[in-house]
Amino acid sequence: MSELQTAEDARLRHLLTLDGLGRARIEALLDHAAQLRSLWRAGAPLPALLDRRTVVNLFFEASTRTRTSFELAARRLGADVVNFDISGSSTSKGETLEDTLATLEAMDADAFVVRHKENGTPARLAAHARRAVVLNAGDGNQAHPTQGLLDLLTLRDHKGRIDGLRVAICGDIRHSRVARSDVHGLRALGAAEIRLCGPAALLPDAAEFADCTLSHDLDATLEGVDAIIMLRIQKERIEHLPGFDETEYFARFGLDRRRLARARSDAIVMHPGPMNRGIEIAADVADGAQSVILEQVANGIFARMAALATLLGRERNG
Ligand code: CP
Repeated sequence: MSELQTAEDARLRHLLTLDGLGRARIEALLDHAAQLRSLWRAGAPLPALLDRRTVVNLFFEASTRTRTSFELAARRLGADVVNFDISGSSTSKGETLEDTLATLEAMDADAFVVRHKENGTPARLAAHARRAVVLNAGDGNQAHPTQGLLDLLTLRDHKGRIDGLRVAICGDIRHSRVARSDVHGLRALGAAEIRLCGPAALLPDAAEFADCTLSHDLDATLEGVDAIIMLRIQKERIEHLPGFDETEYFARFGLDRRRLARARSDAIVMHPGPMNRGIEIAADVADGAQSVILEQVANGIFARMAALATLLGRERNG
């Protein structure tokens, strides 16, 4: 995927993964997102970086945050946005995704924002695109690069840097594209320690995360960390979860106030959403003073603005 997203002249051609994207490029995206956020919050006009551009949201899986924030990001930078209605489209008559993409490209669509349950679908479409760019809005358990960017931006806002941070990612890591993109981004920006915690069935193979610590002990995992990223159980990606009991899960792997006290006193609590209150996170922690969950949501718009503007070529893209 990382080769496919970079053009021969080193420009970013698509955004499919943070894996291999490199520190300089990730930091440039974060800086650009922060700059656009400053303008927006000061009430200043945003540059029309996407004027005469058409962005198509192709969501084959449910989404609240990603779809809406891509739409707002694109519109606020001057683009036309099409929220493609999959259920009412000719894909239901057997048209391939490649033919759907070619059809929309023929209507001068410039960017496709793609979410799909199958790993690799955005990359498959990127390989097929003639002119348009593809942004991965989450594929299977593989990657969710703009979630990774907004998480890095939120962390950097609060900690001033990613270098040297100790970050815990807890819950269903095995099925999580967010965990993978967060790990790719945290590694690239120099996090000191990434601790992954969850039940054995929901932890990934150690070889995939060789530079992370894997544990089933949430109390030990949280000791002294700067940030905690809680993840929900991805029931839609688990065929059979024998004996899963929500109360028992919360007792062993839920973040409550007692457990939060094991982290540094200035630790932040993050969650990509959607949250399952009372399963992976207590409501009073989700809504508490250390929670930055709604800041993550707000930053999603600016991270996606930066990604769209970079790919559509009217901003620095070195
Ligand atoms: N974090 C995230 O991807 O949320 P949505 O599924 O609501 O887009």
